[in-house]
Amino acid sequence: MGLGSVSDGLAAVPPMGWNSWNRFQSRINERLLKETAEAMVSSGMARVGYEYVVIDDCWQTRRRKDGNLRIRRDIFPGGMRALADYVHSLGLKLGIYTCAGRWTCQRYAGSYKKAERDAELFAEWNIDFVKVDWCFSQRPFVLEDLDAPAAYAQWRDAVVRTGRPMVLSICEWGKTKPWEWATTVGHMWRTTGDIRDNWKSAMKILDANAVLWPHAGPGHWNDPDMLEVGNGGMTEEEYRSHFSLWAIMAAPLMAGNDLRTMSDPVRRILTAPEVIAVDQDTLGVQGRRIVRSGDREVWCKPLSDTGTWAVLLFNRGDRAQEIAVSWSDMGLDDIEFFVRDLWLQEDLGNFYEGYAAFIPRHGVELIRVRQKI
Ligand code: GAL
Repeated sequence: MGLGSVSDGLAAVPPMGWNSWNRFQSRINERLLKETAEAMVSSGMARVGYEYVVIDDCWQTRRRKDGNLRIRRDIFPGGMRALADYVHSLGLKLGIYTCAGRWTCQRYAGSYKKAERDAELFAEWNIDFVKVDWCFSQRPFVLEDLDAPAAYAQWRDAVVRTGRPMVLSICEWGKTKPWEWATTVGHMWRTTGDIRDNWKSAMKILDANAVLWPHAGPGHWNDPDMLEVGNGGMTEEEYRSHFSLWAIMAAPLMAGNDLRTMSDPVRRILTAPEVIAVDQDTLGVQGRRIVRSGDREVWCKPLSDTGTWAVLLFNRGDRAQEIAVSWSDMGLDDIEFFVRDLWLQEDLGNFYEGYAAFIPRHGVELIRVRQKI
């Protein structure tokens, strides 16, 4: 079986980890990577499922040497193999970034015509996760415009040929509708352009990713981009919503903040165990919006426990307001549900007909509802 099918054992649930880009862009180095891996363990993130430590753009030199990608030794003096060993010694996995085009988006050497060689190199380094970007993939930077399904299939084949299990993360920003062709090609694919650390951007990405729910499933996930939680551009309430929405959409949860210095409230958002459990549920269904009434929304995700759903009440508006869900919105009538608040980790009791709560501006309440039998 090829990549992207659940039977290759990778990404049966959405991958979780950290990626250097959102917070650090080009300001990366070996020490940052090691300290981040250490912080992933000491903060409790590893315990709740975070696993991949991913080096994004800017680790490589501008040009290849003898046909090979080269590491910027000034910032990664020990090399990638040693870094992978270190990350593995902490019980974590190491991810890396390249680009299918001539250059990476920051103009470092890309993998154009070199997928096989580069996949081999990453496997030699004991890499566990490869993100493949799409900059400089069209003329005049390449001889012929690259075709995304073909270029990423080459990457899939190259990865399979190495014999090393590596998650393949497709990053062509949704340009060629990867949800239509990538199910058997990659484990996750970006569905949108880059996220920014503000509410408007998160909402734009949310709406684009929401409608793609039928395409996600075990081994192949819609990727609405990495998390901005903790980067400072949104309120704590908004970050809690951002995280809840990504969880109910079964998105890969890739933290994008500085794990070494994060505040307690940020750490509590990123490690909320029952919210993460919604994301990581083994049924692998991407939740969807079932009610949209002005700026009040209700989202719903069926869970692997029969008769159980995660339900998100989401206030997109600028004022606190009550948001209600009736069980008939979920297609269920004459039912009593047992309700639990997943942020507070508190049982709320039995509810006939529906449930309602007062939700702050840009806030959420995430509950799990279980059919009473
Ligand atoms: C973008 C990509 C970002 C980041 C950046 C690096 O194309 O969407 O996630 O990887 O390139 O230059």
